[in-house]
Amino acid sequence: MTDNVQNDELTQVLPPVKGPVRRDRKQRAQARTEARPEVVADAPVKAPRLGGFSAPWLKRPSAADAGVYASFSPPVREIAPLATLEGRNVSAWFGERQVLDRVNLTMPAGIITSLIGPSGCGKSTFLRILNRMHELVPSASLAGEVLLDGEDIYDPERKLVDARKSIGMVFQKPNPFPAMSIYDNVIAGLTLTGKRASNDEKDFLVESCLTKAGLWKEVRDRLRAPGSGLSGGQQQRLCIARSLAVTPRILLMDEPCSALDPTSTRVIEETMLELAHEVTIVIVTHNMQQAQRVSQNCAFFLAAQGTPGGIVEHGPTDAMFGNPIDSRTADYVNGRFG
Ligand SMILES: Nc1ncnc2c1ncn2[C@@H]1O[C@H](COP(=O)(O)OP(=O)(O)O)[C@@H](O)[C@H]1O
Ligand SMILES: [Mg+2]
Repeated sequence: MTDNVQNDELTQVLPPVKGPVRRDRKQRAQARTEARPEVVADAPVKAPRLGGFSAPWLKRPSAADAGVYASFSPPVREIAPLATLEGRNVSAWFGERQVLDRVNLTMPAGIITSLIGPSGCGKSTFLRILNRMHELVPSASLAGEVLLDGEDIYDPERKLVDARKSIGMVFQKPNPFPAMSIYDNVIAGLTLTGKRASNDEKDFLVESCLTKAGLWKEVRDRLRAPGSGLSGGQQQRLCIARSLAVTPRILLMDEPCSALDPTSTRVIEETMLELAHEVTIVIVTHNMQQAQRVSQNCAFFLAAQGTPGGIVEHGPTDAMFGNPIDSRTADYVNGRFG
């Protein structure tokens, strides 16, 4: 690869593309409108608690909307059904050193789950285990299971690329491919897999993914400009668009706003809330306000000195911040350490 692209990302492979798809301008516009259902006007800011989950602003597309997507498949497939991700007894090591000890966490479909905790407690490691990136580190090993809708992504029968296709990742530092145009960044996965797509298909994919990532209006007039020319916040949204182009069922985000200014952060947060109706999101954040703004569920990680990290407490974000069970959680969310 010519650019300083992370190998991690190159291994994120796209589904195959077949057959031409032709749409006239009107049909495309209609599909776009229907693909982004209106946010319910009086929706509450926070989701109700888990158990009989319903989040009114995360309106699911109707069957008719899904039909629109189906008619575009592939590469613009129908929206994949929302998926639940579950880590069971996840432990991790770098060499001899254990950094996670039997972490159990369910990240429910359609919910944004935030992972919080001080530096070094294993949040990123846990996230990387969720899409099989941990195993890319030569000294790394792990134990436990990661279930995507009940199926273990580490099952030897399953292919690595299947996990990467279904579970996308956005990193702390925006990393668009610098020599590629904005347009080519979005469809990078198609290019990398050597799959052919018609120009119509590519145009549709680029527009729909940039729209979902909240970037379309800002870049539609300069799609052929290099991705590296965008601001940090725009680059991060470009990376989100690139992830979405593979129609992931889960989107993992590792401190996606920590390098961004407050305005860009707000835009990314709005984008996340809009995306949550079609992809389950897990976000690592150091920002307590951000965890409260965007997530409905939250898990607090901690590693006592010299011991591997684990989850102290998890549950609905409101309860974690308003009425935590463990005093360490209370101390952390109130800024008394970390
Ligand atoms: N590639 C690596 N090799 C060796 N140790 C690592 C590596 N990556 C992370 N670690 C160690 O694993 C522990 C957990 O790190 P990490 O998951 O990055 O924590 P967090 O994201 O919560 O800050 C830390 O002690 C860190 O130093
Ligand atoms: Mg980290």
